[in-house]
Amino acid sequence: MITHTQPLTWPTKADYDLAIKNWKQSILDPTISSGTLSQDNMGIHRFGGANLYVNVYKIGNWMIRCFCSNPPRQPPNDIVERYKAIGDFCAQHRQDVSALLPVTFIERGIKVQSQVFPIVKMPFLTHCPALGDFIAEHYHEKSTMEALSQAWLRMINEMEHASFAHGDLDLTNVLVEQSQQGLLLRLIDYDNVWIPALDGYPQTEHGHAPFQHPHFLPPNPRPYDALMDRFSALVIYISLRALSTNPELYDEWGADESERLLFSENDYKIANLVDGRIAQLISRVTDIELRGYIQVLAQSLRTDLMPPALSNIAQTTMRISLTTSRPTSSQTPTIQPPPIALWGQQVYTVGQTFWNTPIQSQPNGQHSPDDTARMYNWATPAAGNTPPNAPVPLYANTPNSTPQKATGANTTTALTPSQQRQKKRRQRQQGGTNTTTALTPSQGNPPVHSMRRIILTAVLGSTVVALIIILVFFFFVLRPMGIVP
Ligand SMILES: Nc1ncnc2c1ncn2[C@@H]1O[C@H](COP(=O)(O)OP(=O)(O)OP(=O)(O)O)[C@@H](O)[C@H]1O
Ligand SMILES: [Mg+2]
Repeated sequence: MITHTQPLTWPTKADYDLAIKNWKQSILDPTISSGTLSQDNMGIHRFGGANLYVNVYKIGNWMIRCFCSNPPRQPPNDIVERYKAIGDFCAQHRQDVSALLPVTFIERGIKVQSQVFPIVKMPFLTHCPALGDFIAEHYHEKSTMEALSQAWLRMINEMEHASFAHGDLDLTNVLVEQSQQGLLLRLIDYDNVWIPALDGYPQTEHGHAPFQHPHFLPPNPRPYDALMDRFSALVIYISLRALSTNPELYDEWGADESERLLFSENDYKIANLVDGRIAQLISRVTDIELRGYIQVLAQSLRTDLMPPALSNIAQTTMRISLTTSRPTSSQTPTIQPPPIALWGQQVYTVGQTFWNTPIQSQPNGQHSPDDTARMYNWATPAAGNTPPNAPVPLYANTPNSTPQKATGANTTTALTPSQQRQKKRRQRQQGGTNTTTALTPSQGNPPVHSMRRIILTAVLGSTVVALIIILVFFFFVLRPMGIVP
């Protein structure tokens, strides 16, 4: 049950600046007020600012967030409830979502004039560049970019697993921690987070356009649910992987530190053009798995639907190990590339539309496997085989279920012999333990021989027809005319 609190009359940005100058008195939490306010030669150091209803300050080892009135922008009326719930969620899930920071909502946080207002505090992460800055420095280093892609995949999988969506995944809201164990991503700026406790609350943002599905940008609403990060997760992952093999694209396509990576808003709008960047990228990258992700992106844009979770996209091509704690070298998620070339074959029911069908969330904000399948317009596993919280496999082949092929379109393509060999090799690597095992030829792969049979029949047929024509010409034209005896 949602109970929206009455809006507070928030102080202005200038009010906070005045109060924070005297932080030792105005900040009521002693763990913060004992630190030193971060200042530069311009005065108080204000961080961020695009999100116009907050002031962010650094005091000692803490970042503090103050909510302010900045007409016409105001904090959402329920910001206090939201941050209380988010703080609780972070405390509960920091073990299983390594990107979460301890976010603490402090009801009696700061005194501004004679009134007390809440603040949010989180630890300041030193030596952790923003994702955009990190990429700008390392995009030409293949192994670093591969490690970064893995770290991204890990973060997104953990978030999905915990039903946590950030709402504004971009180049500034993700920090990169570099440790001996490898790269670890950390999330900041929780203003637009979705968690199950906030199900039913209104959406407050649309996110940063170069990382958002154009169909969910203003004036269209963006759903506020567990799926709202799906597009950003996919496009950032594609850029990271593409840069690891094609670093020249960074400058060529105008990536930068804070705004965008390989794609801009316009690239999404012209996704169906053959000379659009999405189509170009498919032909420029040689990594078959990555092409699969790009195809899913193109499909999401064509259908105006959110793409599936990265783990679901990966399930037919990879086996992903999720860890629930900080990575150690032995815990680092592994990607084993199993069967290829299932892409775009049985996955989508091309030409069938679902986007007018309302999708009902369950009370906990999850979508049922059937709904999820409808949203992504693909075959759903047999009912009962997928627990509601589990990622929906692209193409499940559990012991109790027969893989179901999407119907309505000819979606089968023959595997080349080398693809088949590769597929078998990868199946062996998987050891048969993955629930998304590859399909046997009779279950899903098109019979390679049928094409040969068609060609043979066509050749034979046309030879017979040609012979008949020659004979008719001989007996009924040449002979009556006496040209031949
Ligand atoms: N916990 C933290 N550790 C280190 N740096 C941080 C932390 N939190 C915020 N920052 C720095 O402060 C900047 C602004 O923070 P944040 O994104 O929370 O504010 P914002 O006003 O919402 O910004 P924007 O709207 O521009 O995204 C970040 O880009 C980052 O550089
Ligand atoms: Mg931010």
